[in-house]
Amino acid sequence: MNESTKLFKEEVLNGLRNNPKTLSSKYFYDDEGSRIFQEIMDMPEYYLPAAESEIIQTHSEAIAKRINRSQLDIIELGAGDGRKMVHFVQVLSQHIPDLSYFPLDISSGILKANEKLIRQEVPSVNFSGYAGDYFKTLHRLRQRTNPRLIVFAGSNIGNFRGERAVDFLKFIKNEMKAGDFFILGVDLKKNPKKILPAYNDAQGITKRFNLNLLTRINRELEGNFELKSFDHYATYHPITGAAESFLISLKAQKVTIGNELIEFKKDEVIQTEISQKYDRALLDELAKSAGISLDSWYTDSEGLFAWVLFGV
Ligand SMILES: C[S@@+](CC[C@H](N)C(=O)[O-])C[C@H]1O[C@@H](n2cnc3c(N)ncnc32)[C@H](O)[C@@H]1O
Repeated sequence: MNESTKLFKEEVLNGLRNNPKTLSSKYFYDDEGSRIFQEIMDMPEYYLPAAESEIIQTHSEAIAKRINRSQLDIIELGAGDGRKMVHFVQVLSQHIPDLSYFPLDISSGILKANEKLIRQEVPSVNFSGYAGDYFKTLHRLRQRTNPRLIVFAGSNIGNFRGERAVDFLKFIKNEMKAGDFFILGVDLKKNPKKILPAYNDAQGITKRFNLNLLTRINRELEGNFELKSFDHYATYHPITGAAESFLISLKAQKVTIGNELIEFKKDEVIQTEISQKYDRALLDELAKSAGISLDSWYTDSEGLFAWVLFGV
């Protein structure tokens, strides 16, 4: 068993021994999970990519002018397939003669798709993808001296609960020098009836995405989860802004992962994902706790989503 599988197993077993049981959402993205996530991005209920794309289409020019550099490294964490970012990279390449784009993602498969797209659409940009956990791969770019724009788009920050979101921003701040920028994509609080179906669609794609985590555990960690004995459940709380996904055990059951035994009561849940929604006040609080300063704020025409530009 290699190091990353060992860590995966350790985190899965620790999570399933917690009360309530938890599994980290970062493990959704094996190759099949990344593929299902592409289906989610195409769902009519999943309003996030269209809103974020509108921001990119409308405001990339203004962001390029605000950044105003002749050299820049764009470093994108959890970059995915790059289909939204390609326009942003294109616009920046028209303003910045010496531009590099470094997408970081845990899934090497999705990085190949990203590379194909960027090389085809923006051949002038210096491209290099880094596969692995961004907490580990980001330091590999430390020897570079160009000004940086770190990007964390797609509302990925929403996957961090409370203090962990602050810790994440502190981690980013540590990677920034004076004059560097950071763009954070955040999903905004809005009518709860718009939010919930994005995590519980009519076709059951989000259900397949959630259950794929158990398939992955079965395959990579010698688990024996019976998929039909688990169901998908999603909630959204309009006051806290937390959209959460769970797997429900439909019966009392025993599951083995390698030689380890995990017991489930009937109706016991595993918490698998949080997608925190923000508003300006919550973001100001987050920035203040992390010690970074909010420079500019860009939204789509319906105010569904925001790109927030921070400096240090
Ligand atoms: C929700 S998708 C967003 C993709 C893209 N940024 C977008 O907005 O469309 C999250 C991406 O982050 C990656 N990811 C999640 N946790 C990660 C980690 N700890 N290190 C590196 N990549 C990670 C996943 O593989 C996935 O491609």
